[in-house]
Amino acid sequence: MNVHSATALAHPNIAFIKYWGNRDDALRLPASGSISMNLDGLQTRTTVTFVPDLTTDTLTLDGLPAAGPALERVSAFLDLVRRMAGLERRAAVVSENNFPMGTGIASSASAFAALALAATRAAGLALSESELSRLARRGSGSACRSVPGGFVEWLPGTGDADSYAVSIAPPAHWDLADCIAVISREHKATGSARGSALAATSPLQAARLADAPRRLDLCRAALRGRDFEALAAVAELDSDMMHAVMMTSSPALFYWQPATLAVMQAVREARAGGLPVFYTVDAGPNVHVICEAARAEQTAEWLTRLPGVQAVMRARVGGPARLAGVS
Ligand code: DP6
Repeated sequence: MNVHSATALAHPNIAFIKYWGNRDDALRLPASGSISMNLDGLQTRTTVTFVPDLTTDTLTLDGLPAAGPALERVSAFLDLVRRMAGLERRAAVVSENNFPMGTGIASSASAFAALALAATRAAGLALSESELSRLARRGSGSACRSVPGGFVEWLPGTGDADSYAVSIAPPAHWDLADCIAVISREHKATGSARGSALAATSPLQAARLADAPRRLDLCRAALRGRDFEALAAVAELDSDMMHAVMMTSSPALFYWQPATLAVMQAVREARAGGLPVFYTVDAGPNVHVICEAARAEQTAEWLTRLPGVQAVMRARVGGPARLAGVS
């Protein structure tokens, strides 16, 4: 069959053990492993069409034509796909998110996972899950974790060939929810790519990396055993360690706003008071508050009432990136 167009869907993910810093920036080989869960309900939907008479790639993002760095990043990624498929044609890419971009909800993860699947299928390739994850990694590191479903671990690997993500457990393993306390909808000042390139300038990064295998073991065990307290402890520690690195890199990166810290403190107090919740914060001011899905409504209502919280988005554990159509 001669396929030229394909549409794929992918969820963003929230990391419990974070990716921050590469040992190879060009190949996006991470300095350490990471563990995340996919976020159901939030998604990127991307259609890629290879068009015979197109002279340059085009990108439409949430209904608007995109140019500059966003288009360049997509075009460089499409070059990888073209090389794999032996294809010359340029592509029209149409991508839509059902959540706001640039607020610390990693849109690049779902974006490049959906793009990897749609572009390879449109180019006539059928990659295995690990090959697809490996490819998505080249677009955005965390995107490799949005390819498999449920709870996912990115194995750092020894090189390009074995650095990809695998599922640790399917969504049904543990009915967790992410209640995202939106503190700001403004576009973040320093994106992850530029920010994480500074990680090695922090004197704390070496200690963070040296301790990573221990945190990964604790997180994996907590997920497998559905041990909420253990997951809460290691995920909060890991998030705080990443932000300590960010704050002590040069130049320093402060993603937290006063309301971010206020919500983090409220979450710790609530847990001490018996509400099973914990926080994790990415490269932005929003606070991801994790709880069991049965408590998500109660948790979201409580968060909405905290000062500085503009809105609360809720997501349960999501499945893998999937194809929505080919033609
Ligand atoms: C803080 O995957 O967005 O969300 O590879 O440069 O695109 P690039 O970085 P990206 O970094 C995500 C960083 C994080 C932590 C995480 O998701 O593990």
